[in-house]
Amino acid sequence: MQLLLLPFLLLLAPAIRSNGLPRAVLTLEPPWFNMLQEDNVTLICKGFQTPGQDFIEWFHNGSVLSIHQDSYFIPHVNMEHSGEYQCRTRQTALSNSVKLQVSSDWLLLQAERLEFMEGDTMILRCHSWRSKPLYKIVYYHNNTSLKFDPQVFNYIVSPVNHTHSGSYYCQGNLGYNSHVSETLVITVQGSSFKIWYFVPFYLVMGILFAVDTGLYFTLQREVNGPKKNTRRPLTRWH
Ligand SMILES: *[C@@H]1O[C@H](CO)[C@@H](O)[C@H](O)[C@H]1NC(C)=O
Repeated sequence: MQLLLLPFLLLLAPAIRSNGLPRAVLTLEPPWFNMLQEDNVTLICKGFQTPGQDFIEWFHNGSVLSIHQDSYFIPHVNMEHSGEYQCRTRQTALSNSVKLQVSSDWLLLQAERLEFMEGDTMILRCHSWRSKPLYKIVYYHNNTSLKFDPQVFNYIVSPVNHTHSGSYYCQGNLGYNSHVSETLVITVQGSSFKIWYFVPFYLVMGILFAVDTGLYFTLQREVNGPKKNTRRPLTRWH
């Protein structure tokens, strides 16, 4: 039973903060962190409460916003909407921080984030200002043009590995004029990093588990010891 519970505790550990509350989860819809002026975006705050019931706090660059719904729709973004966003519900700690970057250009290469873990799916999207019709799209990685399915429109890599790190941009025609986006620098972290990062954590958890189990049996032996005791056995401490 304990052994079955342990992996669950390990999974939960990163989501639980020191004050014991789970973190709210902040996401973007559409998911791109970077966008062009006049695009629309919705920030969504997920807590663990019944939807629409609770008081939500929103923060932009650390300042509180006068919005209390669980989603924050921004029509026609401008440069001032750039920055860091966080949210919090009554039952949650402050969410992850979401960066929003608004720029003014004809073309933009959009991504969900700049850092990926090996095995993730990476979607890049060549986006035009006001979503004007875009022709002859070419995606580039380290200045080499990439093969992609024009029917799909986006450039998708699944799963990514370290060879997909580097600089990306896209090119496309708006009418007869060819435009080029700014360059995005993408980093793919190797999965070995992830494993080594967790080794000390698993070791500590393993030791704690062993000590804990030892304590439990020692206590139980004492409580149910030879001299008949009327007290109930001590309950375990987690
Ligand atoms: C928030 O910070 C970003 C980046 O530092 C800045 O571009 C933006 O104008 C700021 N917006 C507000 C409303 O403070």
